Amino acid sequence: MSAPLINGKQVSEEIRGALREEVERLMKQGLTPGLAVVLVGEDPASQVYVRNKEKACQDLGYYSEVHRLPAATSQEELLALVDKLNNQNNIHGILVQLPLPKHIDEKSVIDAIAVEKDVDGFHPVNVGNLVIGDDSLLPCTPAGVIELIKRTGIEIAGKHAVVIGRSNIVGKPVSLLLQRENATVTMCHSRTANMKELTKQADILVVAIGRANFVDASYVKPGAVVIDVGMNRLDTGKLAGDVDFASVSEVSGPITPVPGGVGPMTITMLMQNTLIAAKRLKG
Ligand code: GUN
Repeated sequence: MSAPLINGKQVSEEIRGALREEVERLMKQGLTPGLAVVLVGEDPASQVYVRNKEKACQDLGYYSEVHRLPAATSQEELLALVDKLNNQNNIHGILVQLPLPKHIDEKSVIDAIAVEKDVDGFHPVNVGNLVIGDDSLLPCTPAGVIELIKRTGIEIAGKHAVVIGRSNIVGKPVSLLLQRENATVTMCHSRTANMKELTKQADILVVAIGRANFVDASYVKPGAVVIDVGMNRLDTGKLAGDVDFASVSEVSGPITPVPGGVGPMTITMLMQNTLIAAKRLKG
């Protein structure tokens, strides 16, 4: 491997250090940021994510509530809880862990979260503000990707960024944020013809297609920045990104590892959003 690593764990720790200091200051003024996390059912991956969010709150001195509800919880019961949290003054951020059980309509639940407490940035009003370029709570993983690139000292303006993947959670918002940073953005997805012709033009390649080791060195221009958003659990139990790290790091420029790249940034951005929401709600 010749490429330098982009260290998401280290960047994330730097941001958390600043958040910790700001929380201490706010607490002296009587404001403790509060996050409510709601988990419905027993999905093992979701349980791990929720535990990590709870730990991050403890680590940074936030108030947190975790509501673990049985898989049989009705949509009405879940909406009643969201409504209660919307009106709870010590809660500034609400996150309903996805996916939800099949009998619950995710869109109805996301729409019910108060826009100003939507720390996932999934509510249509926050998505709309992101498209327009207005102030909004930004979705955590895309915001983490941008922060990671910038804090590594990589210039985005004027670069050709290619994004593989068009999900609502990552591909679409990260494309918009790269554009906001003055990159020229190309989006690719599972139905793109001649994908390699496009990805080989990328100065910055962001991969969020959800397929283990999908991108190898033949997709990458020598020296390109490579950001791997993938988190795929292999049959062996090992975690793999969407990028074949061993192959790509032979040709790329700075590259994120999995784990230790984008992953740690996501929860850190959630903590940052909760702090922003707390300050805005307090006025
Ligand atoms: N499930 C996987 N990623 C996410 C996320 O970013 N937010 C929520 N609410 N659920 C998820």
